[in-house]
Amino acid sequence: MRAAPLGALLALACWGAGAAAQQPAGPALDVASIERGRALLANRHETGCVLCHVVPGFAAGGELGPSLAGIAQRGPADQLRQRIADARLLNPHTIMPVYGNAKGLQSVAPAYQGQPVLSAQGLDDIVAYLMALAR
Ligand code: HEC
Repeated sequence: MRAAPLGALLALACWGAGAAAQQPAGPALDVASIERGRALLANRHETGCVLCHVVPGFAAGGELGPSLAGIAQRGPADQLRQRIADARLLNPHTIMPVYGNAKGLQSVAPAYQGQPVLSAQGLDDIVAYLMALAR
């Protein structure tokens, strides 16, 4: 995989933070959270997001799910977080894995039973990355 333009994103994020005084919308950018979110999105083992989605900032992306380009403009952060935590809320038959809770899952290996794939912090970090793309 080609090296992704993290520097470019962070430069953009820093610019966004600097310009925050003129931008009334949204809280200040948390660059550390954005960076952790990027790492989680990139992790094919832990999340697999880029196996199914085209995500801005990543050279390669899958097409089983919709592109996440412009996702921040499509709704508020808490709704985005809910969709990632449990996509079954909107589509009970979705193929997207459940990341934010361990309810109703089948065939889970004993070592992982009762645990969500992502922690609350992990969900926040992924949302931070996706919301920062809009700045
Ligand atoms: C197995 C494939 C798959 C994986 C892995 C996956 N998704 Fe999805 N995702 C989908 C599909 C398919 C949809 C379309 C919604 C549906 O199924 O109803 C979707 C929908 C979404 C949406 C809503 C998009 C919109 O346009 O409204 C978001 C946001 C999203 N996924 C984020 C993620 C994130 C973040 C991860 C990793 C933590 C991830 N997805 C992992 C398949 C996947």
